[in-house]
Amino acid sequence: HGWNGGGGSDIRFTAVQPNTDDQLTVPEGYKSSVVVRWGDPVLPDAPEFDFDNQTADAQSKQFGYNCDFVTVFPMGRDRALMWVNHEYSDESLMFRGYTGGAAATEEQIKIGLAAHGGSVVEIERAGNTGEWKLVTRGRRRYNRRITAQTEMRFSGPAAGSDLLKTAADTKGSTPIGMLNNCAGGTTPWGTVLTAEENFNQYFVNGDKVPEAQKPYIARYAITTGTPSSSRRFDRVEERFDLAKHPNEVNRFGWIVEIDPFDPDSTPIKRTALGRFAHEAATTTLARDGRLVVYMGDDSRFEYIYKFVSKDRYIPGFDRHNRELLDEGTLYVAKFTGDSPKTEIDGSGKLPADGQFDGSGEWIPLVSGDRSFVDGMTAEEVLVYTRSAADKVGATKMDRPEDVERNPVTGGVYVALTNNTNRTAAQVDEANPRPSNKHGHVLEIVERRNDASEKTFAWSLPLVCGDPNDASTYFAGFDKSKVSPISCPDNVTFDKDGNLWISTDGNALEKNDGLFVMPVRGKERGYVRQFLTVPVGAETCGPLVSSDQRSVFVAVQHPGETDDASPETPSSHWPDGGSSQPRPSVAVVWHARNKKIGS
Ligand code: FEO
Ligand code: CA
Ligand code: CA
Ligand code: CA
Repeated sequence: HGWNGGGGSDIRFTAVQPNTDDQLTVPEGYKSSVVVRWGDPVLPDAPEFDFDNQTADAQSKQFGYNCDFVTVFPMGRDRALMWVNHEYSDESLMFRGYTGGAAATEEQIKIGLAAHGGSVVEIERAGNTGEWKLVTRGRRRYNRRITAQTEMRFSGPAAGSDLLKTAADTKGSTPIGMLNNCAGGTTPWGTVLTAEENFNQYFVNGDKVPEAQKPYIARYAITTGTPSSSRRFDRVEERFDLAKHPNEVNRFGWIVEIDPFDPDSTPIKRTALGRFAHEAATTTLARDGRLVVYMGDDSRFEYIYKFVSKDRYIPGFDRHNRELLDEGTLYVAKFTGDSPKTEIDGSGKLPADGQFDGSGEWIPLVSGDRSFVDGMTAEEVLVYTRSAADKVGATKMDRPEDVERNPVTGGVYVALTNNTNRTAAQVDEANPRPSNKHGHVLEIVERRNDASEKTFAWSLPLVCGDPNDASTYFAGFDKSKVSPISCPDNVTFDKDGNLWISTDGNALEKNDGLFVMPVRGKERGYVRQFLTVPVGAETCGPLVSSDQRSVFVAVQHPGETDDASPETPSSHWPDGGSSQPRPSVAVVWHARNKKIGS
């Protein structure tokens, strides 16, 4: 795409070798430490963590479980606020002898509710290095826990819709809690956007809703009946029983905006951004200043979306900017390949033009109270967005996870993590491998490089897997030099525009990790592994700090392997010895304080 004249990537470290070690492994010359662990006190009055004496009250004041999205708001050079999502609870690792939802104690269920959500914590730089530590003393006025029980509000066109009303909230305006917050983003006005992903798993009796609602229960794969594996939140809060409160499920699956600098603020579910298994929400500005948000729906055969605000962002005009996410147009992506269908034969072999590539368009779904979808009202499009996207012929993708825009080139990158259900008959040029175990990365270049445009060019710079596997592609780079990579999940960029990719579910029988790949110049496609995470963990929330001296990663679900339990842990990270594994955020820096990537 004309970026071949770009300069060097500045990536010089020696790649970490794939391994199955129960530790965080970083390149030679780098150091790492743990910033905050599951159970560490967040609120000043929180007790110290005690694995064998957990309470819901303590958990609601301590760092939650399964850290995912991580972002940092600098407060000067040596202090910052860190926001972290807590995606989900894994009760079989959190409690000894846990045998499932029906047998769980009410306290365990309440601990689960409190372990969800997110945390705001103050962190401080350790010395004159790239290391950061949790502030553990003093007032910590911004520290906050958001949980599945925090009061929130709806805003935007679907707020107050009949589809969002329940017995407890007859106005459809005040949802309680957020669930399964996976990745996210930030706004130019300094707030967090956090994405409710697999909310479908928290409810019971999805089959006992009114007839008209049933197609949507199916489309969103909401739990039916009361399976033994379910958390049974309904046993302590009736709203999770859809036989009694069918609309409660419509109150989850949103992008939630949280102001980390106002601990008393009410989190806002922004309905204009649609409802699906939101993976992320990355903002950028269009050429004319309108705010654009890119989003993935992470399930097999789901879609990629973007929202374009009606009004422009005005630097410094906070009151105006904070309304931007309520009015605008929601689009879904359609991808068309430029090679003959016969050349996309499912072997993964590149077509004759040498690229999986083509053109695409953003199809409008809804704008304010105006629906562009036949047979659906605007409110229906926003609440049942998947069904709306089905109707307009959007392209079904291989699990769209994170979406990020390159701050240097303007290219938009999507991690398509895998899709083992895609058959040979279902391949297309944008999803060219059947039974796609390892996933791929999609690059979108919008017309005039303007984020508000409705058409784009696209290509796949990376088709993941073992480089010895003929179906992999590393942008044409020498495959003998690259690191194997499988199941891209979260992506981010450093200031030089290098793409950082974290993985979840490595299907090459090695631990997950974090990788970097230049996207332009001679090293485009040169994937190198920067770190590996401990046994059973996925790598989330990668963030290269704006001073390029630190990399933050969330190490999610260490020890989450088949048959692992507190009696037989498969990981002892981060505390070592015979300790229980604890999901934690870590920071990595260069021992001689060099730029990350050196
Ligand atoms: Fe929660 Fe799509 O990863
Ligand atoms: Ca092609
Ligand atoms: Ca993810
Ligand atoms: Ca994931």
